[in-house]
Amino acid sequence: MQEVIIRISEEKDIHQMAELDKICFRSPWSEASFTADIRDNERALYVTAADGDKVVGYAGMWIIFDEGHITNVAVHPDYRGKHLGKQIVEFLFEEAAKRGVESQTLEVRPSNAPALALYTKLGFYPAGIRKGYYSDNGEDAIIMWRNNMERVE
Ligand SMILES: CC(C)(COP(=O)(O)OP(=O)(O)OC[C@H]1O[C@@H](n2cnc3c(N)ncnc32)[C@H](O)[C@@H]1OP(=O)(O)O)[C@@H](O)C(=O)NCCC(=O)NCCS
Repeated sequence: MQEVIIRISEEKDIHQMAELDKICFRSPWSEASFTADIRDNERALYVTAADGDKVVGYAGMWIIFDEGHITNVAVHPDYRGKHLGKQIVEFLFEEAAKRGVESQTLEVRPSNAPALALYTKLGFYPAGIRKGYYSDNGEDAIIMWRNNMERVE
């Protein structure tokens, strides 16, 4: 394992990001969806964690005025539990703050204990429920918010 670096996502990452999604999510994004955001969407901001040439994590958001709507956060299973997910999201927030983002929101499955714990650690708090949000199994989503003034452990 080389040193993992975290940087703004580039078009050359898209194929590996889509492959990583297949490992991490029940309903992965296609390469076309990543391309629509990373290459074509001025309001999208994505960051990639790379171990040499290998994409091992990423996080993304859509910027709507001063709000950042998190799309996805993923870490390759071999790299989990080493605070990489936390570092990726913190880097995303730093880059977003440079673009005027003051608060962040996301949806998460109540059954996704690792993600809930990560987001709570980052200062997110639950703010509501979207009933039946996930079409694959009808699970509700917890809506979470955070703002840049929140204390981070
Ligand atoms: C959620 C995910 C991104 C976490 O990545 P990670 O790099 O393993 O997370 P970190 O090591 O940065 O963990 C940060 C904190 O989150 C919590 N956490 C992470 N994984 C956890 C787990 N399996 N169980 C309990 N808490 C966990 C811990 O509080 C941890 O801090 P600590 O180790 O100091 O206690 C990763 O598990 C993943 O890719 N999951 C599949 C995709 C997914 O569900 N993404 C979220 C969609 S909303």
